[in-house]
Amino acid sequence: MPQPQFILDYTGNKYHESKETEKININYDKYETIIEPFGGSFGFSRYLYEKKGLTHLNYIIYDYDEDLINFYNYFKDLINNGEHLAFIDEYNNEVKKMTENCIYEKDARFLNIKKVKNFLNTYTQKNIFIMYLIKKNHFKSMTFCTPCLKKNCGFFELIKNATFIHSPFENIDDAILNDKKTFVYLDPPYIATDNSTYEIPFNINEIFKKMQHIFKTTDCLMVHQYNFLLCVAFEDKKQIQYEKRYGGTTKKKTKHVFFYNF
Ligand SMILES: C[S@@+](CC[C@H](N)C(=O)[O-])C[C@H]1O[C@@H](n2cnc3c(N)ncnc32)[C@H](O)[C@@H]1O
Repeated sequence: MPQPQFILDYTGNKYHESKETEKININYDKYETIIEPFGGSFGFSRYLYEKKGLTHLNYIIYDYDEDLINFYNYFKDLINNGEHLAFIDEYNNEVKKMTENCIYEKDARFLNIKKVKNFLNTYTQKNIFIMYLIKKNHFKSMTFCTPCLKKNCGFFELIKNATFIHSPFENIDDAILNDKKTFVYLDPPYIATDNSTYEIPFNINEIFKKMQHIFKTTDCLMVHQYNFLLCVAFEDKKQIQYEKRYGGTTKKKTKHVFFYNF
């Protein structure tokens, strides 16, 4: 089984794909702060921090998913108190218990929902973050704590130093984004795509209008699945396409585009 490189198996994670940004000349010396308004598992920031060694920058991660941001801030406290490895063990023990309690149906890909619900009901608030992790991982990639995660992973350090803020992108004050020393990485929900995996509704028009605006004021890089209408809407921006290969059994390939203005 491949080793996960993060604590969450996050849909749309851009950690590996950020290597494609090497095709663009980005002078990181100009910046003090990296902002990911659509943070998710902040793959781009992790890439900069871990792979490019840009550990001196400030990283600000936003997301409108409050549970996710609460989880990061909780995990950050655990790291600061040296309790995160114990937390990981606790998580893995819970997963083990669930497996032993046969929450899985015979075919291990499917869960017995009734048993899962019973299990969740017996859970106390104290473990809410563990349950969040387990739920978000959809019980798929069960244990996140492989031996590689026991070592001092780069992202522990990044989580410790980064700022995590719960906010819809639409509400982020323009002044925060509009700074010459700030670089904004935008990985929004895609337009004209099935966005039903997002649990919280959002206004895609407002998101794209605000991004158009930020592109006028701040150094930005946006990543999006290839979409000819978007290429027209952002035609005055620089564009680079790349091929994205999906893992797993599908072996699907799609075209993606970077839009940027620096
Ligand atoms: C494509 S994913 C980003 C993945 C991320 N780049 C990574 O490496 O994991 C989009 C993220 O935007 C968040 N999101 C969706 N709509 C939002 C909004 N209106 N404001 C802020 N975040 C939003 C989702 O919760 C999700 O985490």
